[in-house]
Amino acid sequence: MEKVNMSMNRRKFLGYLGTGTAALAAASAGLGTLAPVAKAASTADHLTGFEDMKLKPHAKPHAFFKPIMPSLDDELILPEGFSYDVLAAYGDVINQNGDTFGFNCDFTIFFPINESNERGLLWVNLEYVNDAYMKEQYMPAFMQGTPIDTKRRYHQGGAIIEVFKDNKGNWKMDTSSKYARRINGFTEFDLVGQAAGSSAIGGQTKAVGTWANCSGGMTLWNTLLSCEENFETQANRSNLPSEHYGWVVEVDPFDENDENFKPCKHTSLGRFNHENTCMGITKSGRIAVYMGDDKTNACVYKYISNSKFDPAKGKANSKLLEDGALYVANLQQGRWVKLDAAEVAKRVHDTKFSVPNVLKMRDQSVQSLRDMFPINATQAHVMVNTHEAAIILGGTPTDRPEDLEINPFDHSIFIAHTNNAVHGNIHGHITRIFEKEDDFESMEFMFEIFAAGGRQSGFSAPDNLTFDSDGNLWVVTDMSESNIGKGVYEWHGNNGLFVLPTHGQNEGEAFQFASGPQGCELTGPWFTADEKALFLAVQHPTTNWPRRKGDVDPLPAVVAIKGFKGNNLDNGQNSGGNNKNKNN
Ligand code: FEO
Ligand code: CA
Ligand code: CA
Ligand code: CA
Repeated sequence: MEKVNMSMNRRKFLGYLGTGTAALAAASAGLGTLAPVAKAASTADHLTGFEDMKLKPHAKPHAFFKPIMPSLDDELILPEGFSYDVLAAYGDVINQNGDTFGFNCDFTIFFPINESNERGLLWVNLEYVNDAYMKEQYMPAFMQGTPIDTKRRYHQGGAIIEVFKDNKGNWKMDTSSKYARRINGFTEFDLVGQAAGSSAIGGQTKAVGTWANCSGGMTLWNTLLSCEENFETQANRSNLPSEHYGWVVEVDPFDENDENFKPCKHTSLGRFNHENTCMGITKSGRIAVYMGDDKTNACVYKYISNSKFDPAKGKANSKLLEDGALYVANLQQGRWVKLDAAEVAKRVHDTKFSVPNVLKMRDQSVQSLRDMFPINATQAHVMVNTHEAAIILGGTPTDRPEDLEINPFDHSIFIAHTNNAVHGNIHGHITRIFEKEDDFESMEFMFEIFAAGGRQSGFSAPDNLTFDSDGNLWVVTDMSESNIGKGVYEWHGNNGLFVLPTHGQNEGEAFQFASGPQGCELTGPWFTADEKALFLAVQHPTTNWPRRKGDVDPLPAVVAIKGFKGNNLDNGQNSGGNNKNKNN
């Protein structure tokens, strides 16, 4: 087995160094989801595989690293010439109030300060806690002696830290930052959108706390969206209404006192086990938000705003996320199905209605669904019970859709389907959706399996995704800790970070860029706009990484990876994505 693996990696290694990737002329693209209408030099042809792109010379071959081999070592292993700095680990003080960095870091976003690539705010999701590490030594002074559940709520949510590159080229946290703070299980949120104030959420317009913050996304107006994934555990432990969680939350990292922008939960984006969001602009100028529901047999969604994006309105564009329509993907028919309350109610109250198998597996009955969607059901009922509405209307149950990202060049949408043992999909796959006429507002689409996990590709359990400016897809993996290094996962080594070109000769091939410490998953990759630094979170390491002086436990931590030469776009010509972000 090892021999096969070695030769496969060697073949990929040679192929990658030898050819680089196909050309993409200097497109005005930013990173990942952030290029609103990235004008690719040419419009890719879905069906012929970007033939026009293949003909162009490659301005700067992107064969910038020598792929690493799988490893079970307890270290964050990177290719030759790359290194990392730990920015913040669990328990580190982040500001002058003595707030500390929470547990199990996940999604990251870098918000430049004054358009800098070397100083900015880093938002970091803090997904869930492990009680074994809720020790006093990791608590701020004001948390000493508090009950365990208070500690749990404090250490989830998110952290805003200020980070910078010092004159020696090392990345550090600046604890004197006026912006650094914690969003956590006690932060007050406004509930906004179609379910706010409705009977479906007990008439409430406020919710306390956010947790289970898995991945997220950046908005086009320089705020962050953070997704509440496995929200049920903490809601139950704290005896708080479950309907107040399972949403997408929005925060302005530069509004340190929440005076100008109140943190909110966007109920019009539906309630489910939200993984992430990725945002684009439709041809008519509306906002599209793609979202995954990280559960077995769960669906892929998109939201389209009713009104158009207006850059001049700045953060007031947040209202676009309140008034719009939510759709679910039907993969058999290649179409988006609108989640319409009247249609859901009509179906469940039909005398011939029988419970779809996927909902039976979640213990739903005809009666429970009729209670969930009364005859006069409103959109609020659909927003609170989105998964059920989606399945009833024909949404396709898929294999744990986690991150989605829009390819900045051709607007195809990539979905990490982590795995689904029920379907025999042990290693997961990455799906690529092509909207009809490249328009996010289209109601029809085509799709393909872009890459399948397994020994033949070298990765298993794809989770978070991000794009670089050359159109390479960066993919982290999340095999469960109990599988790492064993049985059908043995060839993989620890969880890692892989780079997959999305065009050219090596399209869909996976080249390993990083291998994580033992037990961990790597999460939240995010580049600076100049692509000279990559932020990455190491979640739930199990032995003793990161082993800084004085560390006594394994600590979830966020790092900055150095060694990149930077991109073609860092020449003042870049009109897309992160370079647009301003400190305001
Ligand atoms: Fe929190 Fe979907 O991983
Ligand atoms: Ca995840
Ligand atoms: Ca992502
Ligand atoms: Ca995961």
